[in-house]
Amino acid sequence: MTTSADEPRARFTSRRVQAMPGSVFAAMDAAKDAARARGLDVIDLSIGASDLAPPAAALAALREAVSDPATHGYCLGSGTRALREAVAHWYRRRFGIAVDPEAQVLPLIGAQEGFAHLLLACSDPGDAVLLPDPAYPSYFGAVAAAGLETVPLPLRAERGFLPDLAAVDPAAAARARVLVLSYPNNPTAGVATPAFFDEALAFAQRFELLLIHDFPYVDLVDDPADAPSLLARPGGLEHGVELFSASKSFHMGGFRLGWAIGQADAIAALARLKGAVDFNQYLGIQRAVTAVLGEPPEARRADAAIFAERRSALLEAMQAIGWHARVPRAGMYVWAPLPAAWCDSASFTDGLTRATGVALAPGSAFGPSGEGYVRLALVRDPAVLRQAVARIRAHLD
Ligand SMILES: Cc1ncc(COP(=O)(O)O)c(C=O)c1O
Repeated sequence: MTTSADEPRARFTSRRVQAMPGSVFAAMDAAKDAARARGLDVIDLSIGASDLAPPAAALAALREAVSDPATHGYCLGSGTRALREAVAHWYRRRFGIAVDPEAQVLPLIGAQEGFAHLLLACSDPGDAVLLPDPAYPSYFGAVAAAGLETVPLPLRAERGFLPDLAAVDPAAAARARVLVLSYPNNPTAGVATPAFFDEALAFAQRFELLLIHDFPYVDLVDDPADAPSLLARPGGLEHGVELFSASKSFHMGGFRLGWAIGQADAIAALARLKGAVDFNQYLGIQRAVTAVLGEPPEARRADAAIFAERRSALLEAMQAIGWHARVPRAGMYVWAPLPAAWCDSASFTDGLTRATGVALAPGSAFGPSGEGYVRLALVRDPAVLRQAVARIRAHLD
């Protein structure tokens, strides 16, 4: 992770922007460009951008919407009522709990937008935030923009990548306003249990924290029991907000739509903040996602099976070259220790990309506890994943 905090500040750059870490993906892009300049075809496993097609019903609804002048104006308020109701029905069917589409549901322009604005809406500069380490890199910028102090929660393999909440310094927890969790986890692929969420909710209650559970991988699980909802646990709707994403559930990353469900005050604060910042996502995209939220769950299970098949193919190929990683049960990623003899993940991935065209994400991009690992995104077919491992093997040899 790079930080620009010590660099001189440009004239029209705020302190909060100055404090935001530089994008790790910029360095990765330079390495990919260097590989292409050498004539290599790049196998990009560094970014979790799904390569599967969006559901046909979403695209059909969007096509129709584009020709409907009723979708061409601003969308005031908190997104469309139809989308909020579709989200509430979807959540009830998936988790068996009723949520109020007016007070407890809010459409987002992606989970990432929702996360950054939720921090701004629910905490004040100088508050602390309990943040997993490693974590999805955009959290670091969002935390800096909100002027928060990070209290890291290390995620270790021996604990299944769940943080040890009992080890958190009570003085730090008392300074905090927000606890962040995300399972199935990016980058570690760890999964949470209902019992862990009960422990986290008790912790949130004790220290009066808002528990933000970033939950975009809700559908990418071998067994839906491995993606429990925090909100369905006792006290969940009093202390938690969950963030969901059409990017992962429906392979619609570029369409920019997500939704938040949870604690009514936090949802209202987020809606108020967003009211000053954006006019919601285009109505046609809201219609597209409304159309697919009502689909039966079988299609999502089929997509999850595709990722499971890719995962098996990749892990098998890695094992065959003596590279062993924990076997995940969910998500879009394999989180693997660096191959033997390597200790700096960024120099490993940079050299690998330049030499072979295979781009992986360095563990250090996800925080200090990510060092020693690389993340491989399952965003290509099994044959391409096997080819990537063959190139890695040649590079290591
Ligand atoms: C944990 C996590 N949260 C949020 C996002 C971004 O979601 P969205 O596209 O809905 O902004 C990602 C994307 O990879 C992610 O891994």
